Amino acid sequence: MKKVIVSGIQPTGEMHIGNYLGAVKNWVDLQNDAQYDRFFFIPDWHSMTIDYEPATKQRLIKNLVRDLLALGIDPKKSTLFVQSHIPEHLELCWNFLTVTPMSELEKMTQFKDKAAKHVENVNVGLFTYPVLMAADILMYKSMIVPAGEDQVQHVELARVIAKKFNNKFGTTFPEPKAMLTEVPRVMSLTESNKKMSKSGGDKSCVFVADSPDIIATKIRKAVTDEQGVQNLLELVKLFDVSTLTYAHLKKDFDAGALKNVELKDTLAELIAAAFADFRNRKEEISDAEVAAVLETGRARARAIAQQTMEEVRIKTGLR
Ligand code: TRP
Repeated sequence: MKKVIVSGIQPTGEMHIGNYLGAVKNWVDLQNDAQYDRFFFIPDWHSMTIDYEPATKQRLIKNLVRDLLALGIDPKKSTLFVQSHIPEHLELCWNFLTVTPMSELEKMTQFKDKAAKHVENVNVGLFTYPVLMAADILMYKSMIVPAGEDQVQHVELARVIAKKFNNKFGTTFPEPKAMLTEVPRVMSLTESNKKMSKSGGDKSCVFVADSPDIIATKIRKAVTDEQGVQNLLELVKLFDVSTLTYAHLKKDFDAGALKNVELKDTLAELIAAAFADFRNRKEEISDAEVAAVLETGRARARAIAQQTMEEVRIKTGLR
């Protein structure tokens, strides 16, 4: 039996190079391993827990699908779908809400962080968000969840929920684990001690879809305090496939002879080159292709979700 992998990326804005290196690159790498059955999805319901503009949501979702396809997610190798196309996720979430202790959710550090950051919108959905995430994972009976450090606590909660459900209603779900891969910490261009994040603003991030001109402009304006220069050098290291350019710049840097303009121009070229194929491929992906891919993903995911839910309805005594 193949091991099931489930992971999701929220449709909240343009994908930046930190999102790519931290998540999507791993997904693409995992596609060439025959021991896995992969489900990658767009958790649009999760993205509703933070204020947003409804008129932009469809564009964000479709754009994210085009990004994922152009970056190498292959719908023949992975099931790619949108969470809200599978209504069973919410039904399973309800079941899980009834076995999740309040005290477990009160421990979630991401909830506390987000509640502190968005004081004007601390909604119950934000609080129960990890329970929906447990439903996303366990619906496909996944044991492996590629995720960043910030999601580990949520995956552990999914284990707790699986255990509680199994104890109460009989063994139904496996106990999933987070798959933490070594991911580089990509830092903001404008605040050298912060992680690159959409909330830092457009100028602080390099988006995977930025044109070479935009990349050059953003990098040229990047801060060059001591930490900032280190961050730029780190990025050179990440994007320099040959490693020669990095070695050369590092030597100059150690000798105190590296000029910031040279560092920046070299880095901008490396990043632009790294995503050149991506930009070309993305342009070729039509709306019709996006729709077809999502329909195939929906049909496959839904068939499994319906099976899981039928089993859950019987076990819980609702059928
Ligand atoms: N909460 C995750 C994030 O923001 C996204 C997500 C939702 C997810 N459901 C998931 C990730 C299930 C892995 C598995 O990054």
